[in-house]
Amino acid sequence: MAKPKYTGKIEWPAKIELGRGLEGAITNETRIGYVDGQKGWLVYRGYNIFDLAEHSNFEETSYLLLFGKLPTKSELDEFNQKLLGYRKIPSQVIDVLKVIPKNVHPMSALRTGVSVLGCFDDKAEEITVENDTEIAIKLIAQMATIAGAIARIRKGQKPLDPDPELDHSANFLYMMNGKKPDDFSAKVMDVSLILHADHGMNASTFTTMVVNSSLPDLYSSVCSGICSLKGPLHGGANERCLADLLPLKEENDAVKYVKDCIEKKKKIMGFGHRVYKAYDPRATILGKYSQKVTEMKGMGNLYQIAKKVEEEVIAAYGERGIFPNVDFYSGTIYYAMGIEVPMFTPIFAVSRVSGWVARVLEYLPENRIFRPRAVYVGPLEEKFVPMDKR
Ligand SMILES: CC(C)(COP(=O)(O)OP(=O)(O)OC[C@H]1O[C@@H](n2cnc3c(N)ncnc32)[C@H](O)[C@@H]1OP(=O)(O)O)[C@@H](O)C(=O)NCCC(=O)NCCS
Repeated sequence: MAKPKYTGKIEWPAKIELGRGLEGAITNETRIGYVDGQKGWLVYRGYNIFDLAEHSNFEETSYLLLFGKLPTKSELDEFNQKLLGYRKIPSQVIDVLKVIPKNVHPMSALRTGVSVLGCFDDKAEEITVENDTEIAIKLIAQMATIAGAIARIRKGQKPLDPDPELDHSANFLYMMNGKKPDDFSAKVMDVSLILHADHGMNASTFTTMVVNSSLPDLYSSVCSGICSLKGPLHGGANERCLADLLPLKEENDAVKYVKDCIEKKKKIMGFGHRVYKAYDPRATILGKYSQKVTEMKGMGNLYQIAKKVEEEVIAAYGERGIFPNVDFYSGTIYYAMGIEVPMFTPIFAVSRVSGWVARVLEYLPENRIFRPRAVYVGPLEEKFVPMDKR
């Protein structure tokens, strides 16, 4: 960690050590989720991610994140009914999405869609835990509808109404692809949404919390989370990663690709993590699903190439704790399921919104605005020089 340089003239209230990118900084206490980067653990509310991926579904996992316990059957039924009831979005949101140029990145369209959605909620400005909980549930339901509409509008197709017969993940796939998914594809999407739902104080969660801590409306906070997730160092890595994998046709190409990246000191997308220095458990689960889905869709070679890239990267960087992260295999899965590459990050957002809103709601009752400081290293006693003397 870099130690701050003091200018001598500046007094600081506390002795601090700064890590670039706030590495090691603690923001708050939480009961929502835990990442142990050394052991490769991811836990939501005490439940490990392997159990949730196997036994839960996205709706139940969202309930768990929001309310802190697994729901009873009647609680889950009630929650599902709410999500179903909120799925439809105002037609004005669709109208705005339609006038956005088709080549705009869908994360920008999603950010716009959520912003417009907030404008049509006449209770958006009522900042109470109760009202924000309701908005949180709306956002979990409606971001999938917005993303589904964006996927179709981009391809010049008419957005579809949600299908109340389908659960959240199957309906989401239906709204993007225009046909009801087979059970396995729906299960894979559901697992992916569970795995992406929460992940400690990552950049987009922190952004959402920082914005919400000044007490604007929840839609504004979630828009900021979408903006943060968009970048290639965060959610956007899944798109970049697949774009890098697709030109590789055989294992030798994979070897050459990794060698080139190492020689050019280029970061390999889908690898490395600020917290995980062991294998990311989400990549363990998604790797298995990637193998199955790609084989099922006749794209087994894509998985084999990805696996070879993984082997080469681990051979070169494993000792430094650089392993595949969640974004490495997710793209191969979505691609095999016929989803356009630019939609990969919006899918991430449709899931991560559960973590964003859960953490915001946890912080809200004892809200305190986030306000860190920067170490000032500039001059202090410059004399102002008039324009004609500069
Ligand atoms: C995730 C990520 C942003 C974490 O960043 P970070 O904690 O700030 O770590 P840094 O970028 O400072 O990397 C630390 C070291 O590991 C190396 N490293 C990290 N990720 C790497 C990768 N994917 N490929 C090659 N080297 C990598 C860096 O080059 C750096 O090496 P150095 O110490 O010799 O300069 C980073 O690993 C990354 O950019 N990965 C690729 C993008 C990605 O997959 N993002 C999705 C994350 S879920």
